[in-house]
Amino acid sequence: PSCLTNILEPTWHPNTAYSMTVLSATPGKVVCEMKIEEEHTNRGGTLHGGLTATLVDVVSTAALLYTERGMPGVSVDMNITYMSAAKIGEEILITAQILKQGRSMAFASVDVTNKETGKFVAQGRHTKYLGQ
Ligand SMILES: *[C@@H]1O[C@H](CO)[C@@H](O)[C@H](O)[C@H]1NC(C)=O
Repeated sequence: PSCLTNILEPTWHPNTAYSMTVLSATPGKVVCEMKIEEEHTNRGGTLHGGLTATLVDVVSTAALLYTERGMPGVSVDMNITYMSAAKIGEEILITAQILKQGRSMAFASVDVTNKETGKFVAQGRHTKYLGQ
C-alpha cells in the first residue's frame, strides 16, 4: 500500500557505501573512525540505526579476526542500545573489544562514541559461534 512507500524507502540502504579508518588494532581490540555523511542518515538527519548495527557487526568481527585464532564466526545474537544521535559532519569512534573467546563462542562489546565529546552514541553486544 502507498502509505508504506515512504517508510520503506529509507535514506540509508544496507548497500550504501561507508568508509571507516582504522585508528588502532591490537589482539582482540579494534578502534575505527567514521565521519557521518548525508547518505548515512535517517529522515531526522542523524546516523541511521541500521548502519550503527552494521558498524557494531563489522568492527566486532574485525576484532575477532585480530586474535590468535582469527576466526570470524557467525552471529548468534546482537543487541544495540542507542543513547544519542550522531549528526552529519560529526566523527564517531567505533571501539570493539572481545570480552571472552571460548572454544565455540566469542563475546564482543562495541562502544560507538562521538570523537570530539566522548559522548556515547550507542553500545552494542555481539555473540558469535565459532564452530566446534
Ligand atoms: C545485550 O546482550 C547482553 C549479553 O547477552 C546482555 O547482557 C544485555 O542485557 C543486552 N542488552 C540489552 C539492552 O538487551
